[in-house]
Amino acid sequence: MRSLILLLATVLCLSPTSARQQTDPRRDAVDHRVDSLLSLMTLEEKVGQLVQYAAKVQGRGDTARLQEEHALLVRSGKVGSFLNAVGASLNRDIQSIAMTRSRLKIPLLFGYDVIHGFRTVFPIPLAEASTWEPDLIQKAARVAAIEASSAGIHWTFAPMVDIARDPRWGRIAEGSGEDPLLGSLMAAARVRGFQGESLTQTDALLACAKHYAAYGGAEGGRDYNTVDISERTLREVYLPPYEAAVRAGVGTLMCSFNEIAGVPSSGNRRLLTDILRGEWKFDGFVVSDWGSIGEMQRHGVAGTLAQAAALAITSGVDMDMEAGAYHEHLVELVRTGKVPPQVLDESVRRVLRTKFRLGLFDDPYRGADPAREKKVLLAPEHRKLAREVARRSMVLLKNSRALLPIAKNGTVALIGPLADNREDLLGCWSGRGRGEDVVTVREGMEHALGRAGSLLYARGCTIDTADRSGFPEAVEVARKASVAILVLGEAALMSGEAASRSSLALPGVQEELVRAVAATGVPVVVVLMNGRPLTIGNIEESAPAILEAWAPGVEGGNAVADILFGEYNPSGRLPVTFPRSVGQVPLYYNHKNTGRPPQANERFTSKYIDIDITPLYPFGFGLSYTTFEYSGLSVTAPVARVGDSLTVSVTVRNTGKIPGEEVVQLYLQDVVASVTRPVRELKAFRKVALPPGGEQRVDFTVTPEMLAFYNLSMQRVVEPGQFNIYVGGNARDLQSISFRFDGP
Ligand code: NOJ
Repeated sequence: MRSLILLLATVLCLSPTSARQQTDPRRDAVDHRVDSLLSLMTLEEKVGQLVQYAAKVQGRGDTARLQEEHALLVRSGKVGSFLNAVGASLNRDIQSIAMTRSRLKIPLLFGYDVIHGFRTVFPIPLAEASTWEPDLIQKAARVAAIEASSAGIHWTFAPMVDIARDPRWGRIAEGSGEDPLLGSLMAAARVRGFQGESLTQTDALLACAKHYAAYGGAEGGRDYNTVDISERTLREVYLPPYEAAVRAGVGTLMCSFNEIAGVPSSGNRRLLTDILRGEWKFDGFVVSDWGSIGEMQRHGVAGTLAQAAALAITSGVDMDMEAGAYHEHLVELVRTGKVPPQVLDESVRRVLRTKFRLGLFDDPYRGADPAREKKVLLAPEHRKLAREVARRSMVLLKNSRALLPIAKNGTVALIGPLADNREDLLGCWSGRGRGEDVVTVREGMEHALGRAGSLLYARGCTIDTADRSGFPEAVEVARKASVAILVLGEAALMSGEAASRSSLALPGVQEELVRAVAATGVPVVVVLMNGRPLTIGNIEESAPAILEAWAPGVEGGNAVADILFGEYNPSGRLPVTFPRSVGQVPLYYNHKNTGRPPQANERFTSKYIDIDITPLYPFGFGLSYTTFEYSGLSVTAPVARVGDSLTVSVTVRNTGKIPGEEVVQLYLQDVVASVTRPVRELKAFRKVALPPGGEQRVDFTVTPEMLAFYNLSMQRVVEPGQFNIYVGGNARDLQSISFRFDGP
């Protein structure tokens, strides 16, 4: 290999500092106001700004009020933020304590987990990522912000941008899957959606990229577990979505529970200060995760809560969520010189700066408005968008003999524990969503069928018990129908926080139910609702059609009906690999090659002796009711030099009879480099809509950044040599072409 190495920073402008941060004149004005306020504050008041508690509230609805214990903290300036105080009138009331009864009248910041909607619950984030449409997801985040801000929320603990390669980890549901590019685009889109055009808009929500960092790398997929990954994997796989969020202007980050290579994130100075603030120029603030500062005692890097507090603040954690570490110890730590006063001041500055940026000092009550709250929550246009996102997020995994879409005039059997279920369609972290808001699949299908056909329903079984007593009824119902739709999957809380599973199979006796119904000879369509990839090889044999619907939110039932009856042609694609067996995990498309790539007839190659090495469904996969054909893959030149613009083009044709959308995906591989490179990495994609028989030439510009990686010295470089380009509809079924990069 030639030794020529191009340091990208010298070839390209890769500085992460956004122009907005550097040139914004408002920033100086804000900093001036922050400094003058800081000069008036006592040590106790400064610490108070860094303290966050879950609000202790008594009463409900309009009579909800902050409990005296916390009201006292507000009056004495000893708390800067509450989480989980929700409701326009409650939050106005709490804010009025700060604004009228505290010495300096510094407004409180109200945070809440608005993850995939507030009252209008959208599909879970993993489902949203399956749309491969960042602009659409930006709109969903905007709706969430409009609703939550009306209920007095200023700040959402979202987006969750953790890359996840292990579906046992329940929090895979909250993120965008396994790919750094898709994850980064979704992260940035959500930040833009939540924060709106300007944070001062009353309907903007301050966003919080979490959980920094690499929380998804938990060993064994067990939540909160140890993470031990290389610097290279951290930089190339896990960090890009956080950096993308920073570039999109995210106001805050939350550090994670896990350690990485011996350093818990709440005390990780390299991550929180050197990389985040030093390299990425982030100037917002960092909040801990719930109690995570205190947990550094159990990790074994702090002997006392006071030591944990000192470690956290000097590492770069500005706000303490719930540990009480700053509240109890920070004043003393500063007084005794264990924490330099400048460190404290800097954290306080960051928090105050954010409050100024939100416009809280000008209007402490911002969007909190009981009348607006009534008007915007579950507004018809919000539900409409939720339906659109839901149907665009569903992934058609199998459709033998074009069983789907089904005609509206027959008798349809609807079976399964999720067929007439409301709560579980909301998924994990469903904000203020209510089961009563959900359109069930049964309702959605009844509505779609109208008088044209008839729907017979039987639950068949529960989600996770061994009760088979409902099987006979399910079988009987199926026998009377021309098609059986089985809606199966996981309960909402089987994914999300502290919901790791050791099995990826359908829980309970649901697989058996599929077999029992299929034994009638009636064709079976399985609609899956789940928060993670499942190992569904066993039901594949009995089900000619499978639709992955995830946890689809309040409009889930309508969206499923839209797809089953062909009102919408599915266009979702998997943002994560579906393994055949949990024993293959972690299984992800952008892996390394090894020195012995798997070969069927070669024993001493990297594979299993008891199972195929390949996934059940690859990353990027998803069918449509039409078909697409790729042809004419080309690249503008077989050899490129620095400064050349290189375009990869391919023609995509809709070869079926109905309009459809295809996600055209471009992957790259650096064939020989100074360090090993993944077999392929997603570098660009485009969702194209084509009429029947229609075709489109899709062009992708290959940028130097797409060719770059971290070399042995962890410098970001492009090395000369051969690059393989792969283009197609998923990470498995691809056409390829190569070019050489010859350097300058
Ligand atoms: C703990 C979770 O890890 C985090 O994602 C969430 O934002 C906080 N709790 C607050 O609810």
